[in-house]
Amino acid sequence: MENIVLIGFMGCGKTTIGREIASLGGRFLLDTDQIIEQNMGKSIKEIFQSVGESGFRRIESQLILWLGANVKNAVIATGGGMAVYNDISYLGKVFWLDVRFDSILERLDSIQRDKRPLFHNIPQAKQLYNERKKIYEKKAQYRVNGSASIAEIARQIVEYMERESNGL
Ligand code: S3P
Repeated sequence: MENIVLIGFMGCGKTTIGREIASLGGRFLLDTDQIIEQNMGKSIKEIFQSVGESGFRRIESQLILWLGANVKNAVIATGGGMAVYNDISYLGKVFWLDVRFDSILERLDSIQRDKRPLFHNIPQAKQLYNERKKIYEKKAQYRVNGSASIAEIARQIVEYMERESNGL
């Protein structure tokens, strides 16, 4: 089975939707931030502090190569910058969870924002959101309205994959 790859801005729900898709069966969830944290034995915030954003991006690029060579039948929740700085098309079918910036702000409390170095400054995060929107759109094969319910989004994605595999 081809991988499902979830992309989109920080806080758009990639991990939550990935978990829901995995719960429907057949696929395990791989969360790229969690894999990196586990391998480095540090949080994303600490990795940014020790090797900077460029160091973090290098780790992400290595992880993509590894995932591409080794992983099938998964749902992959990517960190928000992964699709921006890398070619992710060969990892699987790419879905963009499109959520308005205001809704993201409502979802992320200060603890959640603090874990994300690029979300510490809200006006800067908003600017980044506006710059990245077109990139996500270009990189995704499918745009999903990320404001729908978790169950609805997961259902749409799984149905899309089923239609594709049946050649419809
Ligand atoms: C980032 C998004 C984060 C994490 C890192 C950088 C980004 O992941 O990879 O803080 O550049 O958008 P989430 O999208 O899961 O928050």
